Amino acid sequence: MNYSAITKGNIEKMVVKPNLDDYQTIISNFKWDNIYKELDGFDNGGLNIAYEAIDRHVKTSLKDKPALLWEGKHGESEKYTFHDLYKLTNRFANVLSKLGVQKGDRVFTYMDRTPEVYTCILGTLKAGCVVGPLFSAFGPDAMKDRLEDSAAKILVTTPKLAETVHEIINDLPAIEKIIIVNKEKTPYDFQAREISYEKLMEEASDEFETVKTDKEDYAIMHYTSGTTGKPKGAAHVHQAIMGHYATAKYVLDIHPDDIYWCTADPGWVTGTSYGIFGPWANGVTQVVYEGGFSAGGWYRVIEKYKVTVWYTAPTAIRMLMKAGEKVVRKHDLGSLRYMCSVGEPLNPEAVIWGEQAFGLPFHDNWWQTETGCIQIANYPVQDIKPGSMGRPFPGVTAAILDDNCENEMPPGQEGNLVLKQYWPSMFRTYWNKKELYDSRFKNGWYITGDRAKKDEDGYFWFVGRADDVINTAGHLVGPFEVESALIEHPAVAEAGVIGIPDKIAMEVVKAFVSLKDGYEASEDLKMDIKKFARQKLHALSCPKEIDFLPGLPKTRSGKIMRRLLKARELGLPEGDTSTLEE
Ligand code: PRX
Repeated sequence: MNYSAITKGNIEKMVVKPNLDDYQTIISNFKWDNIYKELDGFDNGGLNIAYEAIDRHVKTSLKDKPALLWEGKHGESEKYTFHDLYKLTNRFANVLSKLGVQKGDRVFTYMDRTPEVYTCILGTLKAGCVVGPLFSAFGPDAMKDRLEDSAAKILVTTPKLAETVHEIINDLPAIEKIIIVNKEKTPYDFQAREISYEKLMEEASDEFETVKTDKEDYAIMHYTSGTTGKPKGAAHVHQAIMGHYATAKYVLDIHPDDIYWCTADPGWVTGTSYGIFGPWANGVTQVVYEGGFSAGGWYRVIEKYKVTVWYTAPTAIRMLMKAGEKVVRKHDLGSLRYMCSVGEPLNPEAVIWGEQAFGLPFHDNWWQTETGCIQIANYPVQDIKPGSMGRPFPGVTAAILDDNCENEMPPGQEGNLVLKQYWPSMFRTYWNKKELYDSRFKNGWYITGDRAKKDEDGYFWFVGRADDVINTAGHLVGPFEVESALIEHPAVAEAGVIGIPDKIAMEVVKAFVSLKDGYEASEDLKMDIKKFARQKLHALSCPKEIDFLPGLPKTRSGKIMRRLLKARELGLPEGDTSTLEE
């Protein structure tokens, strides 16, 4: 297969002129101040993400335009205009005020992808509080870590997920109220601190003046995994909306008449930056599909809602490739005009397959929870070099530096991918971990933790992570978090966790475990440990494979040498083992 540049991608098939029609001109003229001017802002120079995403449209002809086309997992559908969302989010902001929640307090959501989660996230921002969206797939330990660290005051959840919350609630004194969203109206016994969402919303007024937050006030936090320690809360401020807005416009190329579908859950930063804020700040209609993945199901969504712009992830694309083109042909996907991907390296085959299956290539882009918005991308007007993440977004300076993060590497040579400090959506801290945050910056650069190369044409190519973090289906897994969960199993003495290559998910989690005296290695025990892990962790973080070892390789200071476990597993050179404790 020829992976040389796909010339000008789909430009001749483009039915609309791309927003970024000339990369060099836009790069030369780009100023964040001009982006600020495209937003409404407040008289006091402030900004509020929810105001820009919802309120401002209600004063324009967009007021009655559909903002959200929602399809539930049972096939039910609901439609909300910007005005509908304006009123609902006002109500929720009033609910928070009534509960005595103050500006800056943390409000967390733990829900499936129903319209209510969108209302709560935006309503929280309107009230000037800090929102923390959590995946509904989290188990009790994952929940406890995040709620404890953030000292969240309010948690919004559903009757089914409340069962998980009940397991940990006694360890979470900061939580004042748990709001129960009972969309399916199941009988429910309210426990202490719990209160009905429906009742609160009914009693609340739909008029609210959005809090005039400062550009630098905290708005949203997403927890992300590191190599050691617990997940860390990357906190973003309200002016992050400038990044969401600008990148949605120029990278995702959304135009007023688009029907846009981002397949990510709001528990992941892609699901908020590009599943809520960026597109709505651009006044675009979004589709939200609550159901899980199936090739036929997804194509049906595209066909039914006439999706024009689609933002998804490599794992999903690989699964679609596996399902084959025959399923594609059963649907009319002619509405699609632009497709993007993020979260993991996008295989060159996947870019080309897009051309074959949909007549359009996938445009890869790169960013992180910490960066808040897309930093490197393939743009509609540019040649795609399949396998490359593309070029820096206007206003972003990216470079490849040597091991000390001092000198730039020559083109084609691998090094640390770094970004020039400061862009509006850059994270402002790791919650309660300022030192760790500071350690991510050196010589005015933000060190991303990724290894990459830059070619002669300024395109960036992903090489791998500089740390042990595992990327499974676009979900970052910190090995330490999994190891900590595993050693809580009564039979497990020690655990070392690595990522091993996988065709679909890129990597899957593999655990090496040594047992306590008195326990015998067996298939049954493996199953039991896996089951145990499933109760504690997000499904994707659970080990798919477990191997028993008599002991784990460790450094003299007692650190498990995951690098060595990985080299041995994959039959690679063991490298420097001078610190290995025999
Ligand atoms: O390692 C890179 C990988 O995912 C990491 C960021 O993960 P997370 O914070 O969960 O993502 C948030 C929004 C994308 C990066 O450090 N990654 C992301 N996009 C790409 C990628 N690796 C290769 N190519 C990409 N396009």
